[in-house]
Order: sequence, then structure tokens, then C-alpha cells
Amino acid sequence: MDPADFYTGIVAALYGPLKSFSQDPEPYAAFIQQAGMPALELGCGDGEPLLELRRRGLDVDGVDSSADMLERLRRRAAEQDIPATVFHQRMEALNLPRRYRAIFLAGPTFTLLPDDATALAALRAIRAHLAEGGTALVPLFTPEPTPAEQIGRVRTAAAPDGAELRVSVLAEQRDKTARTQTALLRYERHHESESTIEDRPWTMHWYTRDQFVRLATTAGLAVTAVTDPDGKPAPADATGLLHFRLQTT
Ligand SMILES: C[S@@+](CC[C@H](N)C(=O)[O-])C[C@H]1O[C@@H](n2cnc3c(N)ncnc32)[C@H](O)[C@@H]1O
Repeated sequence: MDPADFYTGIVAALYGPLKSFSQDPEPYAAFIQQAGMPALELGCGDGEPLLELRRRGLDVDGVDSSADMLERLRRRAAEQDIPATVFHQRMEALNLPRRYRAIFLAGPTFTLLPDDATALAALRAIRAHLAEGGTALVPLFTPEPTPAEQIGRVRTAAAPDGAELRVSVLAEQRDKTARTQTALLRYERHHESESTIEDRPWTMHWYTRDQFVRLATTAGLAVTAVTDPDGKPAPADATGLLHFRLQTT
């Protein structure tokens, strides 16, 4: 297994708000119904919510940078007899054969793009893959610093093969100028007599509303709405997860 995929799999199984934001398929089903099809999920991981959306008959393709996550998605799709088309690409270097009425990320995966230049490349790629009149949905949030008492705390989960997965934050650095927060994470996988322990930085990069609007404008996209995940307009000082809707200019 690619070492990067080992980490991503553990992160997706265990760590942080990113995954827990993405479980509920309803906001994405509603978005696709409004924006139209075909649709594309960026950072589809191992298939939540993509498989549920496909099960409902929605025409949704997926993209993820992790071969390991996509392999799990394909396995789950085959087990559930759900046809799924997914591509192993990075969202900032997207090159797909179709154009989409709806492009979305399910949860704030966009904050994993480490700097404004990469985010701009991803927004340009989104624009290039939108069909005429199409809409994109980008959820964003500003991460809170990890509370001091949680530094060093170990979270555990069981992998499907019975291995014990552990992750802990060893240290964290926040840079308000670059708008990044980098946690040094320790990942552990213990299975029978085999153990793997790796330390790896995990960077999140955030935006003020104005900064994101400016980046989108540079990419040829207009922010047409900012809402909470239920679709209610978000006031200018709103915190938590915000859904940015984008259309071509
Ligand atoms: C927090 S997970 C959520 C995945 C999915 N919603 C799920 O629940 O399975 C974020 C996903 O984004 C993928 N990812 C991270 N950076 C990416 C990038 N630059 N381009 C495409 N996918 C990316 C990761 O491989 C991971 O599968």
C-alpha cells in the first residue's frame, strides 16, 4: 500500500471534524436536484455520500487523490451492486472527460489544499469542468486550535481487518498570516505481531469570506450564495461550516 494512502485511510477512519461533517447525504442530494446532473464529488474518499447518492439513482461521478480510498469505494460499490465511476486525480489538477452541472465537496476537504495557489488551481479546475450554467458547492470552515488537554490524547478505532488504529496530535502550530494550522499527528496500526507507527504533519488552510470570494473571482467564478449546511443564508459573522455556491462569470 502507498504510505500516503495508509495515512489517508487512517485519517478518514479516525480523525477530526472533516469526516464527521460529510456523512449526511441530504444537503448534497438537494444540491444536485437544484443544480442538475451530471454531478461530480471531489474528494469522494471511500464513498460517503457518493454511494448513497448513486443508490438513489443520481448521476454522480467521484474524484479522489487516494488510490486506497478509491479501491475501498469500488469494493463497497461492488458489494452493494451500485455502479460507480470514479477517477484517481487531484482536484487541483483535474482532467476529466465530462462537464458537470453540479460539482461539490461533501464536507470541508477544500481546507486540505495547503495554500492559496493550490486553492486557486482547484477553483480553476472546477470552473473548467462546469457545464454552461452549472453550479459548484464548496463547504469551508475555520479550524479551532486543538485544546491543550487533547494534545497527546489517543483515539482508537478498529480497521475492517481487525487491526487497531490509533491517532494522536503530538503538537500543533497555527500561522494566522498564512491561515494554516499544522498538527503533527502520530498514526499507529497494530495487527497481531505487526505494528506501524508514523508521524506526519496535517495542514488545514482557511479563508475569510472576502478572501475566498477574491480567489473565486480570479478563477472566473462568482460566489452566488453563502449558506449554512441546511441552505439557510449565513450572516457575515457566521462561524462553523459554510456552504459557498459558485457559478461561472
Ligand atoms: C475527510 S476525507 C472525506 C472523504 C469522503 N467524503 C468520505 O466520507 O469517505 C477527504 C478526502 O479527500 C481526499 N483528498 C484530499 N486532498 C485531495 C485533493 N487535493 N484532491 C482530491 N482528493 C483529495 C482524501 O484522499 C480523502 O479521501
